[in-house]
Amino acid sequence: MFPSCSLLLGTLRGISIIVPLPSSSCTGVPRNVNMEKLQTGYLFPEIGMRESEHTQKYPHARLIRLGIGDTTEPIPDIITSAMAEHVYALSTVKGYRGYGAEQGNMELRMAIAETFYRNLGVKGNEVFVSDGAQCDISRLQQLLLGSNVSMAVQDPSFPAYIDCGVIVGRAGNFQEKTGTYDNIVYMKCGPENNFFPDLSTTSRTDIIFFCSPNNPTGYAASRQQLQQLVDFAKANGSMIIYDSAYAAYVTDDSPRSIFEIPGAKEVAIEISSFSKFAGFTGVRLGWTVVPEELLYSNGFPVMKDYNRIVCTCFNGASSVAQAGGLACLSKEGYQALTTVVDYYKGNAEILVDAFSSLGLKAYGGKNAPYVWVHFPGMSSWDVFNEILEKTHIVTIPGRGFGPGGEGYVRVSGFGHRERILEASMRLKNLYK
Ligand SMILES: *Cc1c(COP(=O)(O)O)cnc(C)c1O
Ligand SMILES: *[C@@H]1O[C@H](CO)[C@@H](O)[C@H](O)[C@H]1NC(C)=O
Ligand SMILES: *[C@@H]1O[C@H](CO)[C@@H](O)[C@H](O)[C@H]1NC(C)=O
Repeated sequence: MFPSCSLLLGTLRGISIIVPLPSSSCTGVPRNVNMEKLQTGYLFPEIGMRESEHTQKYPHARLIRLGIGDTTEPIPDIITSAMAEHVYALSTVKGYRGYGAEQGNMELRMAIAETFYRNLGVKGNEVFVSDGAQCDISRLQQLLLGSNVSMAVQDPSFPAYIDCGVIVGRAGNFQEKTGTYDNIVYMKCGPENNFFPDLSTTSRTDIIFFCSPNNPTGYAASRQQLQQLVDFAKANGSMIIYDSAYAAYVTDDSPRSIFEIPGAKEVAIEISSFSKFAGFTGVRLGWTVVPEELLYSNGFPVMKDYNRIVCTCFNGASSVAQAGGLACLSKEGYQALTTVVDYYKGNAEILVDAFSSLGLKAYGGKNAPYVWVHFPGMSSWDVFNEILEKTHIVTIPGRGFGPGGEGYVRVSGFGHRERILEASMRLKNLYK
C-alpha cells in the first residue's frame, strides 16, 4: 500500500488517500508485511465514530453502552485488601520481594490447579501464571508456535486468535468477498449446528482455537461436543488451544475445562483469566495450562518450550496481581466473586427476556455474560444502526467477529443493573 515514503490520510469509500512525503521524513526500516494484511481494528473505531455522530445528533439522549466486553462492578474488598497488604509490605525491609518465579508463585499455581481442575489431573507445575489471556494467546501464537503451523477458528470468534495468526504470518490474502483470510480454516458455529462445527467437513489444521463459553455467542459446548473435538484433534494430530475465560459463568453441567474430557491432556492447552471471573481486566492476571503429556511431532514436550518462552520473554506476572489472585481463590474471595458473576448473568437474563419479548431469538446469557441476538436476513451493521437510532443503545455488530456473525449483534451483560433495566425497557418499546 505504501510504495514509497508517504502518509495515509484515511480512506474514503474504500479508496486510500495517500500524500507523498519528502524521503527524509521516513526511516529505512521496512514495515512488517503481515501488519499490512490486518483488516480488523476498524471495528471499534467505526463503532466509536457512529456513537459520536449519534451523540451529536441527539445531545440529550442517555446513551447505554452494551457493546463492551469489560467488567463494571467493584472487586470485593477481601481481594483488594490482600493486594493492599502486599503493596504495603513492599515498603518494609522484611516484606520486600523482587522478581518471583517466571511461571508464577507456586502457591497460586497449586491453588489454580485445585480450584479449577480438581480431580482432573492438572498439576501445579503445568499451570503458568500470566498477565492475562490475551497476552498468552499472542505468546503462544507468535513465540511458541510461530508462522509454520496452520490454524482453525470458530466463526464467529474472539478477534485476537485470527489477528495474532495474521501478524505472525500464517494467513494468506484477505478476501473481501467472503470476509476471510486464505490459509485459515473458519469453522462456522451457529444455531443451525448447535454452535458446533461439522468436523466431518472440517480440514485438518495443526492448531484449533476453541472458546467455551464462547465470546461472542455465549454458547457453552456440551461434553459430547467437546469429546468430538478432542477425538478429532487426536485423530488428526492437531493441538487444541482452548480459551476458558468465561468458565466461571457456566451454570449447567457443560464442562468448565477441556481437561474434563478424557484424552484432552494429550491434545490441548487451556488459556484462562481472572479478568471476567474476578473483574481483573485492569489488574491483569491469567494462566495457561500446558500438560506434560502434550508432545510435538518429534516427541518433544510442548511444556518445556513454553517454560523457556515464559523465562526468556515474560518474567512473571505482577506480584501484586498474584496476591490478589490468591485471595480470589480463598473460600471467602471465591464466594464474593460468585455473587458478582451471578449479577452479570442476571443482567444477561434480563436482556435475553427483552429480546425474546420482541419475538427475536436471543442465544447465550445462561453460561456467559453475552447475549447473541439473531436478526435473520439483516445486515448486522443495519441492526446496530437501528438499535442505536431507536433506543440509544450501543451493541456490537456480529460481523465484527467474522463472516459467521452476519445477521447478529452481541449485547453485553456487563453493566450496572439500573442501566440494564433501562435498556430492557427501551428495547421492549422498540417496535411499539
Ligand atoms: C476478555 C477475553 C480475553 C482476554 O482476557 P485478559 O485476561 O483480560 O487478557 C480472552 N479471551 C476471551 C474469549 C475474552 O473474551
Ligand atoms: C517449517 O516447516 C518446514 C517443513 O516442515 C521445516 O523444514 C522448517 O524447518 C520449519 N521452520 C521452523 C522455523 O520451524
Ligand atoms: C481427521 O479426523 C477425522 C475424524 O476423526 C477423520 O475423518 C479425518 O480423516 C482426519 N483427517 C486427517 C487428515 O487425518
